[in-house]
Amino acid sequence: KKDHYILGIETSCDETAASVVKNGTEIVSSIVSSQIQQQKQFGGVVPEIASRLHVEQITLVIEEALREAEIVPKDLEAVAVTEGPGLVGALLIGVNAAKAFAFANQLPLIGVHHIAGHVYANQLMHPMEFPLLALIVSGGHTELVVMKSHGSFELIGETRDDAAGEAYDKVARVLGLPYPGGPQVDRLALESEQSIDFPRAWLEADSYDFSFSGLKSAVINYKHNIEQKGEQIDPQHVAAGFQQSVVDVLTVKTVKAAKQFDVKQVIAAGGVAANQGLRKSLTEALQKEGIPFYVPPIALCTDNAAMIAAAGYEMWKSGVRSDSTMNGRPGMPL
Ligand code: KG4
Ligand code: ZN
Repeated sequence: KKDHYILGIETSCDETAASVVKNGTEIVSSIVSSQIQQQKQFGGVVPEIASRLHVEQITLVIEEALREAEIVPKDLEAVAVTEGPGLVGALLIGVNAAKAFAFANQLPLIGVHHIAGHVYANQLMHPMEFPLLALIVSGGHTELVVMKSHGSFELIGETRDDAAGEAYDKVARVLGLPYPGGPQVDRLALESEQSIDFPRAWLEADSYDFSFSGLKSAVINYKHNIEQKGEQIDPQHVAAGFQQSVVDVLTVKTVKAAKQFDVKQVIAAGGVAANQGLRKSLTEALQKEGIPFYVPPIALCTDNAAMIAAAGYEMWKSGVRSDSTMNGRPGMPL
């Protein structure tokens, strides 16, 4: 049986990434060039700088992915690239590099949704079984999605305001922590022995939607009140309380949906799925219900191109193809 190799390319935000994946499940190479060091000084991702750094890195990163995989273009079946959503200027660099590579090497081109990529990161660890429930939590997304088969995504809940990762990054800024704040808040929360009691946004009883902006405001108000008294907040206690609120709501809604939709497995995806508190809470709660739970290792939770190649492989198998008119789609629907 012939092996199928897909080249994946990802440039939707602040990582320039390329990867070769075998048969949709095995990482042969995965190169990620992060802009975090350059973007840190601005306290977030500056779109114009992101585009410029992607331009500098993209060719090197693709060459490195092929070299490390010991793969030449004619060994590949297709080129898969993040088509959207993301920063338009950043997406365009990856899309145009993929188009040029596909054209020059006579390969099919496949445009992948970034969130589908995050979900398919799981396929690199173990086979997906349907129906499954995916909790997608990243800097731009907080979604609960039911998948009944490959390529089918039914959105059952989403954030009505901030994404979970966005809330983490904003609270981190309030606490004076450097960008990206998620991992820092996570670390502080784990070390803390006490936590401040912050509210939980459950919304309507039957809703799988989320809301995190009220929690963010509660943290800001708390800090304000303490400082008005001439005292200082304890960042650890605040981080722990904030994280408990986020993790609690994400866990309860995920478990409820898993039961209602009678899924065979629950998977977590996206940068916030790297969160230690969330991983522990979901593992324990789903174990109690006897529902298998999977989350990829941290390097596959945050942005990478192996996940794009993995999603692209399933699309390639089912005959999905993009043409040379493909463009970056900042608001691409799932
Ligand atoms: O998936 P990702 O790399 O990029 C997007 O597609 O958004 O996610 C980045 C987000 C950032 O908001 C970052 O702060 C958050 O994921 N993040 C975390 C952790 N690691 C990354 N949030 C909470 N705890 C973590 N350990
Ligand atoms: Zn992402």
